[in-house]
Amino acid sequence: MIWWYWRKSGLASVVSAQAKRRWRWWPALKTPLILLIATFAGLYLSLRIVWRRGSVPANLSVYPDAQSIKASVVKSVVDPDRPLFHPPLRARGRDIVDQNGDRTKLLSVNWYGGSDMFMVPGGLDVRHRSGIARTIRALGFNSVRLPYADEVVRKNPIVEARHLIANEDLVGERAMDIYAAVVQALTEAGLAVIVNNHITKARWCCDGYPCDMGWANDHLGPICPVKQSEDQWIENLVAVMRPHVNNTHVVGVDLRNEVRGPTGRYMWNSWATAAERAAVKLHALQPNWLIIVEGVSSANDIRGAEYRPVRLQYPDKLVYSAHVYGWSGWGSLVPYWYRTYKSFAEDMHNNWQYLRASDTAPVWISEIGAPGRPSRKDFHYWKNLMRYLRETDVDIAYWAINPRKPKNNEYESYGLLEDDWETPRYDYRLMDLAELRT
Ligand SMILES: *[C@@H]1O[C@H](CO)[C@@H](O)[C@H](O)[C@H]1NC(C)=O
Repeated sequence: MIWWYWRKSGLASVVSAQAKRRWRWWPALKTPLILLIATFAGLYLSLRIVWRRGSVPANLSVYPDAQSIKASVVKSVVDPDRPLFHPPLRARGRDIVDQNGDRTKLLSVNWYGGSDMFMVPGGLDVRHRSGIARTIRALGFNSVRLPYADEVVRKNPIVEARHLIANEDLVGERAMDIYAAVVQALTEAGLAVIVNNHITKARWCCDGYPCDMGWANDHLGPICPVKQSEDQWIENLVAVMRPHVNNTHVVGVDLRNEVRGPTGRYMWNSWATAAERAAVKLHALQPNWLIIVEGVSSANDIRGAEYRPVRLQYPDKLVYSAHVYGWSGWGSLVPYWYRTYKSFAEDMHNNWQYLRASDTAPVWISEIGAPGRPSRKDFHYWKNLMRYLRETDVDIAYWAINPRKPKNNEYESYGLLEDDWETPRYDYRLMDLAELRT
C-alpha cells in the first residue's frame, strides 16, 4: 500500500531527482575532502610514531654504575658538622642570600603526604622522621618543600596509628601537630623547610577539578566539599606557620601550589593581589620569612610579573617559583618531552628566567622530576632541563623523596628512596642533581 502510494504520487521521482542533484556536489567536494582526511590520518600516524618512539626505554649507558654514582653523591655533600646555610635568607637581585650576603642556592626535595588523603607526610610508618631527615641531608639536599592541604588545617583529625608505626611518640596526635613535628625534625637536621599550601581538599594534586584549582573556591557556590574563601586560605597559612615563628630554619612559605584555571595567564593579576594580602598577614608574624609565589598555568608561567610584579612590604623577601615537567609546555601543542633544546630554553627564558636574567628577583623551580627508569621522552626532557639548570644555576626542588604514593600504596617511579625510606635509588637523577651542587 505504502509502496503503491510512493510510486503513484510521484514522490519517488521527486526524491530521486533531488538525490541526484545533491550528488552533483560530489565531484567538486571530492578532492578537498580526501585531502582533509589524508591530512588528519597523516598527522595521527606521525604523532603515533612520535609517541611510540618516545615510550621506548631510554639508553642510560653514558651513566656509571650505582656504586660510582653513590661515590659522586657522597663527594658533593656538605660535611654534616657544618651548617648548610646561615638564616635568615633574603632576595638580592636574582639570588637568595643568607645573613652574610652569601648566595644560598636552594637544592630542595619535596616530601609529600601532608596534603594527601591520609593527611600525614609519607614514611612515618616505616622510619623515624629524624632518620628520614638525615638521609635527605646525606643526599645533598639543603632544604625540603613540605606540602599541606587546607582540609588538614580545618579538620585537623587524629592521624591513624598505622601511618605512624615508626614514630610511636606521635601516635594519638593530630595532623597539624604531626606536620609541625616533621618540620622540627627536618630543621634539627640543619635543613631549611619551606611550607607549601598544596591543595584545598586533602588528595593527590593537581587535576582540573575546579574546587582545587585556586587558593579560593567560594565563587563556585555550594558545590565544593571543602569550601574556602581567600580569607580562610590566609588564616590556614598563618595557622600552619605560627608554631614556627622562632624556628630560624623555617625559611619561608610557598603560598599555593600550581594555581591554574581555564583563563590561564589572565589569572595572574588576582593571584598577585591575593599573594600580597597573604604576605602582609604572614610578615606580621615573622618578617624574615621568604614569600614564595608560583606562576599561573600550573606554575609554568610567571610572565605576568613583568607588567604586574608582586609588591611586598619587605621587598627582599619575594621569591617567584615555577614548575617544569616533561608534560608541561602550556600555550603550545608540543610538551617539553618533544622540544628541541632551543625551543625549550626559549620557553624557560620567557616564562621565568627573564626575572633572573634582568636581576629582578630569584626564581625557585620547586618541582622537577622524572622516573628512575625513564622512557626516551622522559630522558629527553631531563637532559634539556639539566643543561638549562646548569647554564642558569637556578634554585630547584626535586619531586619527590617518597618511594610510594598514598593511594593504593602505588610505586612512586619519581621517588629517590627505596621502600625502607633509607636506601637511595642511585641512578641518573641523583648523579645529575649532584652535579648541580658543584
Ligand atoms: C617565640 O618567642 C617569643 C619570645 O621569646 C615567645 O614569646 C613566643 O611564645 C615564642 N613562640 C613560639 C611559637 O614558640
